[in-house]
Amino acid sequence: MTLAIMRHSHSADMSTASSWEGLTGTALVIGQGGIGSALVQELGERLPQLDLLWLGRRSTPRLDLSCDGDLDQLGEVLAGKPPLRLVINTAGWLHDSQRGPEKRLARVNRAGLEQAFSINAYGPILLARAIESSLGHGEAAWFASLSARVGSIGDNRLGGWYGYRAAKAAQNQLLRTLAIEWRRCLPSVCVTLLHPGTTATDLSEPFRRGVPPEKLFSPERAACQLLDVLSLQCPEDSGRFLAWDGSTIPW
Ligand SMILES: NC(=O)c1ccc[n+]([C@@H]2O[C@H](COP(=O)([O-])OP(=O)(O)OC[C@H]3O[C@@H](n4cnc5c(N)ncnc54)[C@H](OP(=O)(O)O)[C@@H]3O)[C@@H](O)[C@H]2O)c1
Repeated sequence: MTLAIMRHSHSADMSTASSWEGLTGTALVIGQGGIGSALVQELGERLPQLDLLWLGRRSTPRLDLSCDGDLDQLGEVLAGKPPLRLVINTAGWLHDSQRGPEKRLARVNRAGLEQAFSINAYGPILLARAIESSLGHGEAAWFASLSARVGSIGDNRLGGWYGYRAAKAAQNQLLRTLAIEWRRCLPSVCVTLLHPGTTATDLSEPFRRGVPPEKLFSPERAACQLLDVLSLQCPEDSGRFLAWDGSTIPW
C-alpha cells in the first residue's frame, strides 16, 4: 500500500506499490478546468519535490492545444527544465456557447466534428510530439491523457454524442499507437488513457441531472482517484484505457 492510497479512503483497493516515491524532475499538467485545477493541487501536496508546470489557454506561456505555435513554444520551455517525468493532459471539449453534443444525426455537422476532434483527438497526440524529446531522459516517465468511457466503441449502447465519442475513440487509438512506438524507442515511458468518472465540472454541468449524487465525483475526489490509478502503472502497462477505479475499459 502506498502513502498516496492510504490517504484516500475512497480510492480503489490496489495492491501494487506506487513507483512515484522520490520522483524528481518536471511534471506538466495541461488544462485549467475543474479536474486540471484539482490535479495540480493534489500533485503539489503529494509530490512537492517535482517542478510543476501548469499550462492552458489562460496561462503564461499560453498552451492552446489547437495552436501549432503554442506547441512549438512548449518544446522550448521544456528544454530549459529538468526532464519531464509526469505529463497529464486534462484539456477536453464537449460543449460551448455555440454548440454541444449531437443527440441525433441531423445535428451532426462538419464544424462540430472538427471542433471535437481538434481538442480531444489531435491535441493529445500533437502534445506528445511536442514533449517527446523532454520525456524521461532514460528514467521512468508517465504520459496520461483524460479520455471518457463514452469513447469506448465496445461499451457504446446509448448512442448520441457523435463528435465527442468519436474524438475520444480517436484519441484512444492515437495514444495506443504511440504507446507501441514508445515501447521501442522510449521503453521507460508509460502511456495511459484515463476515464475520470462523471465529475462536477463545467464540462458535465448541463448533462448530469440524472446522475445520482454518489456517482458524481467532486474534482478533488476525481483527481485523487486518477493519481492513485496512474501511480500504480509501470512501463509494461503502457497503452491501457483505465477507469477511475483502475478497471480496464474496452476499446
Ligand atoms: N467532467 C466529467 O464528468 C468528465 C467525464 C469523462 C471525461 N472527462 C474528461 O476529463 C477532461 C477534463 O474535463 P473537466 O471535467 O475538467 O472539464 P472542464 O472543467 O471543462 O475543463 C476542460 C479544460 O479544457 C481546456 N481546453 C479546452 N480546449 C483547449 C485547448 N484547445 N487547449 C488547451 N486547453 C483547452 C479548457 O480551457 P478553458 O478553461 O480555457 O476553457 C478547460 O480548462 C476532459 O478531457 C473531459 O473530456 C470529464
